[in-house]
Amino acid sequence: MADRAVSERHGLSVISKEFKCSAQISLEEHMGCGIGACMGCVVRTSSGYKRVCKDGPVFLSDEIIWEEKE
Ligand code: FES
Repeated sequence: MADRAVSERHGLSVISKEFKCSAQISLEEHMGCGIGACMGCVVRTSSGYKRVCKDGPVFLSDEIIWEEKE
């Protein structure tokens, strides 16, 4: 079952792409350490895995690989 918040963010990403504008999305993940050490909060992006706690939580919507988030 898809997380509703993830689905909404993915929807915003699709809309921003359709209107050819950039969107910034704030992600939430379960966090083990919160300081970038455990890699427990990674998300897959177009430029590799990024840590939500350290590299985010705000990312450009078109850099997130959404298929793995749902
Ligand atoms: S919570 Fe440990 S790396 Fe993000």
